Amino acid sequence: MSKNNSNLTVIILAAGKGSRMRSSLPKVCHPIGGLPMLGHVLQTALDLNPQQIITVISPQTPEVKAIADHFSSTIAYQILQEGTGHAVISAMTELKNEHSDILVIYGDTPLLQSSTLKAMVEKQQKTEADVVVMSMRLQDAGAYGRIFLDEQERPYAIIESRDATPEQLKNPMANSGVMLISGKHRQALLEKLNKNNAQNEYLLTDVIRYAFESGLNTAHYEGEISELLGVNNRIDLSHCEQDFQNRRRHQAMESGVTLIDPQSVTFSYDTKIATDVTIQPQVFFGPKVSIDSFTTVLSHCHIEGATIGKHCTIGPFARIRPTTILDDHAKVGNFVEIKNTHLHAHAKANHLSYIGDADVGEKANIGAGTITCNYDGYAKHKTQIGKGVFIGSNSALVAPVTIGDGAVIGAGSVITKPVTPDALSFSRSPQQELALGAQRYRKKKSVN
Ligand code: UD1
Ligand code: CA
Repeated sequence: MSKNNSNLTVIILAAGKGSRMRSSLPKVCHPIGGLPMLGHVLQTALDLNPQQIITVISPQTPEVKAIADHFSSTIAYQILQEGTGHAVISAMTELKNEHSDILVIYGDTPLLQSSTLKAMVEKQQKTEADVVVMSMRLQDAGAYGRIFLDEQERPYAIIESRDATPEQLKNPMANSGVMLISGKHRQALLEKLNKNNAQNEYLLTDVIRYAFESGLNTAHYEGEISELLGVNNRIDLSHCEQDFQNRRRHQAMESGVTLIDPQSVTFSYDTKIATDVTIQPQVFFGPKVSIDSFTTVLSHCHIEGATIGKHCTIGPFARIRPTTILDDHAKVGNFVEIKNTHLHAHAKANHLSYIGDADVGEKANIGAGTITCNYDGYAKHKTQIGKGVFIGSNSALVAPVTIGDGAVIGAGSVITKPVTPDALSFSRSPQQELALGAQRYRKKKSVN
């Protein structure tokens, strides 16, 4: 644990209604790269190694509590949402160390990086500032609050855009919402907050004015705009998602993954791809996917919950669903859906199949159109396919069923009983032949 941060408490504000999202889901639960926004922010907070993380939530949002609990954050309830300042005040009853500095970050600013926060904390320690606000310089700061600096670059006020004059709105210094308040002055500053403003809310931004007026040392730390985009509506959400995806695409390519058309590959927050993997256009990764070296994902694949080995080939047009394992050199071809299945090394399902709840032995070959009938309308059942098995095309394997090592299943079979190792098994109606029957048929048709 970094010694520097043992005196730091991170407070994450996540109690706002987020009404501009027009959603029944709380704003901070909306995902970026498959992880709720709040999850990104909690992870960033954890990376700082603070003494405590307090997430401020509304009592009406169990979904938000579940995320905070998952990251072992302390919960503080804000019963009435009376503004960002009120949210911070609500957290104070949960504060373990009353002397600690508090770093306020927002649950709706998911792209913020811990390295940026660390740099801000370092600046505070160096300059011994009492309050530091993270600023960002924007050509048009839109709906963000504007930070006003004196000639020594010390912030003396933050004015919300709706309260600002047209002249004040021209100020390019915007408030990111991130604020660090020293433990020494925290209580006195928060006690000064009040609702005497147009919004009738406790505005955290007023801390700057009170600190400056009391002769305390205020400072700003200029952050990266790309990390500070706040999400207020679904348009902001889509911008954040795009920025997040671009960041992941760059990381993947920098670490040795070939993306033929990066813009068309969508990653999950936790996708792990080793060096020398090639990904063709139009591939979507859901959560929990890892891919080892020299594997190729051909275009138009949807992959989630899969552990994929080396030298595998997947797609085009494959769907891989959760708890699937592909060992090295396995192949999953076009229009194949695989779920909860282990394909051992060199096993292949190359065309038009559904393989669910199955274990497919080494070098087994699943013919085109094979279906594992894993569901009887009530429960799921397992299909066990041995090493080197050959399943003929268009077979239905009715689970639970076991096919022994080295067995061959004739095309078009419906297999309901166990097949012993090295057996040849098939189930189909016998082929009939009427000699010259085709000629007679055509004659009859042409008479009519
Ligand atoms: C706030 C800032 C603004 C800044 C912007 C950056 C204030 C008064 N304004 O405005 O200067 O430019 O963020 O994104 O601080 N929240 C609570 N409880 C509340 C109200 C809000 O927990 O009672 C939480 C929200 O869930 C959200 C965060 O605080 O995560 C920010 O609230 P929001 O209403 O989005 O503030 P902005 O209007 O964007
Ligand atoms: Ca906001």
